[in-house]
Amino acid sequence: MDSMRICSGVRLKGQVQASGSKNSALPILFASLLAEGKHLFHNVPRLRDIESCVELLTHLGCQIQWVGPNSLSVDVRSSGETLAPYDIVRKMRASILVLGPLLARYGKARVSLPGGCAIGTRPINLHLEGLKALNCESRLEEGYVIAETKNLQGGRILFEAPTVGGTENLLMAASLAKGKTIIENAAKEPEIVDLANYLNKMGARIQGAGQSIIEVEGVSELQPAPEHRIIPDRIEVGTLLIAGAITGGDVTVTQCQPTDLEALLSKLADSGFGLSTSESQIRLESPKTWSAVDIITSPHPGFPTDLQAQFMVLMTQAQGTSLITETIFENRFMHVQELVRLNADITPKTRVAVVRGPSLLKGAPVMATDLRASACLVLAGLVAQGETVVNRIYHLDRGYEKLENKLAQLGASISREK
Ligand code: UD1
Repeated sequence: MDSMRICSGVRLKGQVQASGSKNSALPILFASLLAEGKHLFHNVPRLRDIESCVELLTHLGCQIQWVGPNSLSVDVRSSGETLAPYDIVRKMRASILVLGPLLARYGKARVSLPGGCAIGTRPINLHLEGLKALNCESRLEEGYVIAETKNLQGGRILFEAPTVGGTENLLMAASLAKGKTIIENAAKEPEIVDLANYLNKMGARIQGAGQSIIEVEGVSELQPAPEHRIIPDRIEVGTLLIAGAITGGDVTVTQCQPTDLEALLSKLADSGFGLSTSESQIRLESPKTWSAVDIITSPHPGFPTDLQAQFMVLMTQAQGTSLITETIFENRFMHVQELVRLNADITPKTRVAVVRGPSLLKGAPVMATDLRASACLVLAGLVAQGETVVNRIYHLDRGYEKLENKLAQLGASISREK
């Protein structure tokens, strides 16, 4: 199993380019199932979750080919296959996003209950409630969701809480439902907007994506759009900026969308970092010392839960005490015990962690527990005295495109060990 060896002591400096968004590419690739024919996507990141997605789409009868370093051609054929098997779904929770497209295409789907990161129970009840409002019945049987509809019909859905995946599944199903669907308390993440843009390019009629209320006027058929470029990965961008920050560095991330990261940028500025943005790049310059600030994770445009672990490491090096509150997922402080092994001074409760900085981190072997936690341990390695080895790096590979190469490009001393 691969691990990552990191030596501290380098101030990161220079420019690095953002990759395409994993969380945008996944729903968009699944959305291709809605229209037979050839789809072409650019800026698709090369990472493990995309491989799992390709495996699932291939199982569902699509012919898929990389036609450039980050360009993927998806040829959708009508295979009639409606099963998403456990062996593939267990590797990636986002596989649940085939539910909406399969129902819209074939009127039925049998999807294994998802695996993915071990960050809480992560139910799918809201996806199923939403689909019910579109005239779809579902039940759970032997670890599978079995869903059926005679005819998807537009409906009104008020989500109890904004759910990214639930909103995406609903958008995809509603695009081919009969009549109008209104989704209230929809998730507002940039990835929802990217998905809606692709669906609209295919002929869907979606209005309001990126806001709390989305309206979808169902159409009878969708066609592949000539091509689509996936938006930059705001979580990767945030991780790279924090990597620069924690080393006291000066880094510029190019080909990104600064407007997608306002919550992080304003917290970094509050902490004392210099930030300058242009349309598609962000430069971060570090002060000699930086101050502790509190964060509370919340749905977009709030502070992203996917950057909570990385920001926490930064706060171990800040002057003062910060309060990190996680409101999206329970059990998302698993990185804390590993950070404490590196000598961080953090007290976690269920949803709140108190981080007392600055503490002198000391290198040690640590274990990645989930995708973003593994990124946070790599960042800790950049400043922990001596050498840090992060084990179980396959979690990192699920969601980052060659993070070690990008950090090395900025000067970090980091290598992968097989
Ligand atoms: C997506 C992202 C993930 C990110 C998360 C929150 C992808 C592939 N993954 O995950 O990286 O951390 O958004 O920004 O895009 N919930 C329910 N019932 C449901 C669905 C969700 O109770 O049916 C709860 C979840 O347990 C969680 C909250 O709603 O507490 C938000 O989850 P959701 O937005 O659905 O996250 P994902 O789409 O799984």
